[in-house]
Amino acid sequence: MIETKPNGRPAYETDYGAAYCGDSRDLLKQLHDESISLVITSPPFALQRKKDYGNKDQHEYVDWLAEFGEIVYSKLRNDGSFVLDLGGAYQKAVPVRSLYNFRVLIRFCDDLGFHLAEEFFWYNPSRLPSPIEWVNKRKLRAKDSVNTIWWFSKTAWPKADISRVLVPYSERMKKLIEDPEKFYRPMVRPSGHDIGSSFGKDNGGAIPSNLLQLPNSESNGLYLEGCKSVGTQGHPARFPARLPEFFIQFLTDPGDLVVDIFAGSNTTGQMAESHSRRWLAFDERLDYLATSAFRFLPANNTNVEMNEIYKRIMANESVDLREYLVQQRLQLFETPRTTSVGYHKLGVSSEQRQRKAPRR
Ligand SMILES: C[S@@+](CC[C@H](N)C(=O)[O-])C[C@H]1O[C@@H](n2cnc3c(N)ncnc32)[C@H](O)[C@@H]1O
Repeated sequence: MIETKPNGRPAYETDYGAAYCGDSRDLLKQLHDESISLVITSPPFALQRKKDYGNKDQHEYVDWLAEFGEIVYSKLRNDGSFVLDLGGAYQKAVPVRSLYNFRVLIRFCDDLGFHLAEEFFWYNPSRLPSPIEWVNKRKLRAKDSVNTIWWFSKTAWPKADISRVLVPYSERMKKLIEDPEKFYRPMVRPSGHDIGSSFGKDNGGAIPSNLLQLPNSESNGLYLEGCKSVGTQGHPARFPARLPEFFIQFLTDPGDLVVDIFAGSNTTGQMAESHSRRWLAFDERLDYLATSAFRFLPANNTNVEMNEIYKRIMANESVDLREYLVQQRLQLFETPRTTSVGYHKLGVSSEQRQRKAPRR
């Protein structure tokens, strides 16, 4: 299914994608130029406190990230996008913010040739107060609960369709749509906005803003259950699934190639798979990729199978997860009561389920 992919065998593959272990600079270089529609990723942030997934010192950080940015640029299609999630950070020992995320933005645009299509902000209301010293103890700063998300594009005209990610109308807007005349008269506002008669038309939802409110308190049921069963913890910095899903729906079409170059638990691959986009996931840690495979299994998969998959990947075997899906389908065929539970949990429609028949 993937037309361009790194040399060598993936840690695992599915109908739509494959996960590879290695430094993503090396893996990216092996892809065809102008082949990717969307790179969406969250690198290790430039935090002072080292986490266990390889954070860089703030000073080296911009240079380090620019190395990836330069390769991504050459691999993106001309209508492609690079969506980069960066958390804020403080300077060492003082309550002063680091400018690193803004330095990344300027470097990518001024030196690498990217355009800033739009800046987004991910507001995570469930984020814990941090750093404790400035927020809880000395009460000098507010809780930081917003990440900057830079939506870079290769040209001024990346593929995009905001009508694919509409949000529910407000209660007030719903009332207005029911009875437009009661609420407004078509007119040009003092602000210059022309509120015409089409303003009250039902478009199926409202245009979302660039403030994405997404708690990352979701349960990740099967993934975490699998991690527990093999004796590991879930990845410490997972995306909420809606974050990659939003940009995948907004910026790509079915069949386009989506790549996460710091894939971690591969939330991006799972969302790409469930929306019929081809995907590649790169991470330098095989243990993270091994557990991320659980995301692609049906919900009623057994712990025995998850253990087997984990061990095979950790032993550097390349696992085709479709083998497990075929077994599952056969079981479902014998016991129709549980039909579609697994796919349903992954948010896969019945139409996609049909398409997911193995292609071998
Ligand atoms: C913030 S986490 C990404 C989490 C991911 N968004 C998720 O939903 O699980 C960053 C990941 O980058 C990986 N990483 C760091 N340096 C890398 C490199 N040079 N090449 C590939 N992966 C790398 C780390 O192992 C870590 O899993």
